[in-house]
Amino acid sequence: MSGLAGEAPDTPGAAIPANWSVQFRDRIDSTNEEARRLLREGAEAGTVVWARTQDRGRGRRGRCWVSPPGNLYCSILLRPDCPPVQAAQLGFVAALALGDAVGPGLPDPGALRFKWPNDVLIGGRKCAGILLESEMGKEGRAAWVVIGIGVNIRSAPAETEYPATALVNEGFAEIAPEALLNSLCDAFFEHARVWAGKGFGPIRAAWVERAENRGKEIRVRLNDSSLTGRFADLDADGALLLETAEGLRRVTAGDVFPSG
Ligand code: BTN
Repeated sequence: MSGLAGEAPDTPGAAIPANWSVQFRDRIDSTNEEARRLLREGAEAGTVVWARTQDRGRGRRGRCWVSPPGNLYCSILLRPDCPPVQAAQLGFVAALALGDAVGPGLPDPGALRFKWPNDVLIGGRKCAGILLESEMGKEGRAAWVVIGIGVNIRSAPAETEYPATALVNEGFAEIAPEALLNSLCDAFFEHARVWAGKGFGPIRAAWVERAENRGKEIRVRLNDSSLTGRFADLDADGALLLETAEGLRRVTAGDVFPSG
């Protein structure tokens, strides 16, 4: 399928490797940082960096990601060679993979929800976060993407702006980080192949089905302001559509909170 002249085609057609391989680090600054170093040295797409603990784990919007042993910290390297808007959709691919890896192990799999843009919640509390980093290559295409994923398996930070939880607190049986890494990566590469071949449509549909607060009033904190409105939908690129008193707003970056 190809788009109109001048438009990005809606199927990324990105090469997703058939296999993935793990590089383990006992202790590292950040698996995303290590992934960038490996990329510079020519690491192949499909390389996954996994660490037991991180000293400078980072979260979205400059926040830090506290990383004691017992939880999962990993970064998946891809070289998608697609427009940046499409590369950003890999965050939703990662969320679906987390849903597959975690959901079935919960007493109530329906308690697992996705929070825009890239969080995974159980019973309204955040158990996993995703940090996408990329670099532009030729003709404004994403040369590489690092998909960093942190899952609170055994512990969750106490003082967080958004309430956090750990899998073991939600009735998920004790699991070694490497076991969760395996199911997560298998699911990720499966969904990534769907994304590369069929585009964002099926990924978007599956994500929306489990979206937290869809149809409800939410507050979105932007860089220096905030918006309140009804979470109407996710658009064809992955932007959040918010029905506000002033009309429909399309939001591409921000932090979502329940309204009130
Ligand atoms: C967020 O919700 O703010 C995103 C958190 C992402 C954390 C993971 S842990 C593995 C990878 N390495 C990092 O430094 N960050 C990501």
